[in-house]
Formats: sequence, structure tokens, C-alpha cells
Amino acid sequence: MISLSKVSKTYELEGEELTVLKNVTFTIKRGEFVAIAGPSGSGKSTLMHIIGLLDKPSDGAVLINNVDVSTLSDDDISMMRNEFVGFVFQQFNLINKLSIIENVMLPTIYTRKILDFEPRERAMELLTRFGIGEKADTFPNKISGGQQQRVAIARALIMKPELILADEPTGNLDSKTGDTILKLLEELNKKDKITIIVVTHEADVARRANRKIKVVDGEIAQ
Ligand SMILES: Nc1ncnc2c1ncn2[C@@H]1O[C@H](COP(=O)(O)OP(=O)(O)O)[C@@H](O)[C@H]1O
Ligand SMILES: [Mg+2]
Repeated sequence: MISLSKVSKTYELEGEELTVLKNVTFTIKRGEFVAIAGPSGSGKSTLMHIIGLLDKPSDGAVLINNVDVSTLSDDDISMMRNEFVGFVFQQFNLINKLSIIENVMLPTIYTRKILDFEPRERAMELLTRFGIGEKADTFPNKISGGQQQRVAIARALIMKPELILADEPTGNLDSKTGDTILKLLEELNKKDKITIIVVTHEADVARRANRKIKVVDGEIAQ
């Protein structure tokens, strides 16, 4: 499903080159639950942005479902990102001016695809499934962190993605609440057959995955 071949990423900082990823090669199959693990600053988020088509590598190839992403136009990349992947972030990244259900429906506005579902209906189904249906018309700053992260997961799922990319999804939660979020991701993997990639610097979180890809100083460590 995802294949990275010799991917490198270099940033230019005050005239100096900073290499954040070096020669990263791996594949992830449909249906896997993978952790991208490693210490802070090792390049995990950069890697996640490249897999999620939010950023491009400086060198190397990214194949999504056997399509070399570098052959696609920016419009096609945006479309693919919107439909193929759902993102979950440490800071939840909800929009405080929008209600909970409007946050969940937001990705349906940015698509050219003809949807095979009614956005509000599907958003409500997801919120109900996650036990926060009664919060649909309140606002993100009125609910707990664990609830906000469930809203973010509902938003990540609204477009029926094949993949969920979660960057430190439990980083802002206490361990008990974090555990419920990990259980939810496990359920989405097992029941809904969604491929899950969790980015984490915490060994406890990485252990929950079926496979670990370890990144140290921008390189894959064995
Ligand atoms: N846009 C950027 N410009 C310059 N340096 C960056 C940028 N994004 C990340 N970095 C640097 O790349 C390194 C890896 O960052 P990151 O991918 O966020 O690591 P991690 O998620 O593992 O903590 C860090 O040293 C960070 O400062
Ligand atoms: Mg990070």
C-alpha cells in the first residue's frame, strides 16, 4: 500500500543543510498496524508528513497503491490526501469556531469526489459510535481532551480513508484516556480493516502495534 524507497529530506537553515531523513526504505501493507517509533527530533513527524502527502521528499520515491506520487499534479496529490488518509494529531487540531459535528464534516467540503454518504448523517454515526453523539452541537473547548481526540478520529474517518496516520495521538492525554484512544485505533484496524500508522516516542504506545519501524537520527534502525 505504501512504499518508500531511499527517501531523504533536507532542510536549508541559515544557509546550512540539515538532513532530517536519510535513505529511508520500507513498505507497509494494507491492514497493518505499524508504529513509527524513535526519540524526539529523530524525524518521525517529517516522515509522517511525507507518507501523508503533506510534504515531499528531497530525494527518493514514495509509492501509494503502486502510484509514484512524484508523477501526480499538486491537485491530484491534494485529492489523494483528502480521500486516502485521515490524520490524527497530538494537539487534536479542531477548529474552535465550528461545532463538533461541523469539525467532523469539514473534510467533505474539500472534495471533488461524489460522496456515497450524507455528511451530517455519517458524522453523527461516527460520533455516536464513539460515545459522544450528544456533544454534536457543542464546541471543542467545551469537551475533555479524550473527547476532542475522539472527534478528531471521527473527522479522520469521515471520508472513509484506507489509512489513518496518528502523530503522538496520546501525547496530550493522561495514560488512562490515552489507552482508550489506542483501543479505539486497534478496533478500527481489526474491525474496520483500516491501516493504522501511529507515530510515537513512547515505548508503551509503540508496543501496541503489530510492527515497529524505528527511526534514529533520520535513519531506519533495525
Ligand atoms: N520545516 C523545518 N525546517 C527546518 N527543520 C525542521 C523542519 N521540520 C523539522 N525540522 C527538524 O527536523 C528534525 C526532525 O523533526 P521531526 O520530524 O519533527 O522529529 P520528531 O517528530 O521525531 O520529533 C528536528 O531537528 C527538527 O528541528
Ligand atoms: Mg514529532
